[in-house]
Amino acid sequence: MKRVLSGIRPTGDIHLGNYLGAIQNWISMQDQMDENLFCIVDLHALTTLEDVKNLVGNTRIMAAAYIASGINPDQSTIFVQSHVPAHTELSWILSCITPMGWLNRMTQFKEKAGKQRENACLGLLAYPVLMAADILIYKATHVPVGDDQKQHLEFTRDIAGMFNREFKKDIFPLPDPIIKGPATRIMSLRDGTAKMSKSDTSDYSRINLMDDADTLALKIRKAKTDADPLPAQVKDLEARPEAHNLVNIYAALSGQTADQVCKTFAGSYFSTFKKDLTDLVVAKISPIGQEMQRLLKDKGELDQVLSRGSMRANTLAETHMQEVRDIVGLLKPDEGVNRTRQMDVLKSIA
Ligand code: TYM
Repeated sequence: MKRVLSGIRPTGDIHLGNYLGAIQNWISMQDQMDENLFCIVDLHALTTLEDVKNLVGNTRIMAAAYIASGINPDQSTIFVQSHVPAHTELSWILSCITPMGWLNRMTQFKEKAGKQRENACLGLLAYPVLMAADILIYKATHVPVGDDQKQHLEFTRDIAGMFNREFKKDIFPLPDPIIKGPATRIMSLRDGTAKMSKSDTSDYSRINLMDDADTLALKIRKAKTDADPLPAQVKDLEARPEAHNLVNIYAALSGQTADQVCKTFAGSYFSTFKKDLTDLVVAKISPIGQEMQRLLKDKGELDQVLSRGSMRANTLAETHMQEVRDIVGLLKPDEGVNRTRQMDVLKSIA
């Protein structure tokens, strides 16, 4: 059984890094897998307070982005993390076997907490445990992500192995991280050594899926480059991070390798290359942005997709959660007693 699970935090604008590093690979795998689950990981957005703004709107934007990019809601399950309570339940159980040392060593925690480590919230430290639960609750076998999620995926495999050994049951498959293509790490358009990210204060650092054609063209025109012509081989771009990044973007959008792109443009200057890159970005990204705008006009339709998705996700997650509860030895609630209690509560409210 090949089952894919991946997700994006609904924090502001969705950018080209998310699209090329993650979504494009989801789409290419969609037909080859037995089951695809794509989550909007809203609970993860709560770990940084500035991301909590407009969470409802951003969750719908993300759903629109998934569909507009080519995730077919009739074929794949698109759902919201907080609509499936088993994620947090499994996260707690996993956190009870997670060594604190593993969490303290996570680079993302160290980067985000910075010097404020003592004041950083527990959620930020526990973030990888919830992410592991997102994946393991579905017994996912494949997780397509960008390069920055590598350590989280290693953690997920380690914790799955630890759980299986601890409870002497091969319940969780060790998921394979799928980090492939020329765009696993798209860099900022302003600084080729920094990752393209939603949190960069400059909007010129990233290409957003909802940017219109003029904005896309302006951002590429303003993108930092150098005065040298393009080389015939990508290895000669190692010391030119901004140039390398634009070549990678071209390669990922055109379905070529970075070496093939270099061969085509060998000897050309960036004035020429940027024109072709603009045409390509506009041709690929503008229709997605326009489709997102169209989908966002009908919130009811989007909410219905998410509601159908959450039904499927809950069914699968609950089946696996019951196995976990049994394995760790939690007492099953007595169905009959539960129902009588619920009726009593309902009567007392009426
Ligand atoms: P997030 O929301 O930061 O990013 C979502 C996806 O986009 C990829 N990505 C990039 N790829 C290439 N270049 C970039 N500049 C770039 N920026 C982002 C990320 O690698 C990711 O694949 N922890 C995750 C969300 C998450 C998750 C999960 C992912 C929570 N639970 C379970 C997979 C499975 C995150 O913060 O991604």
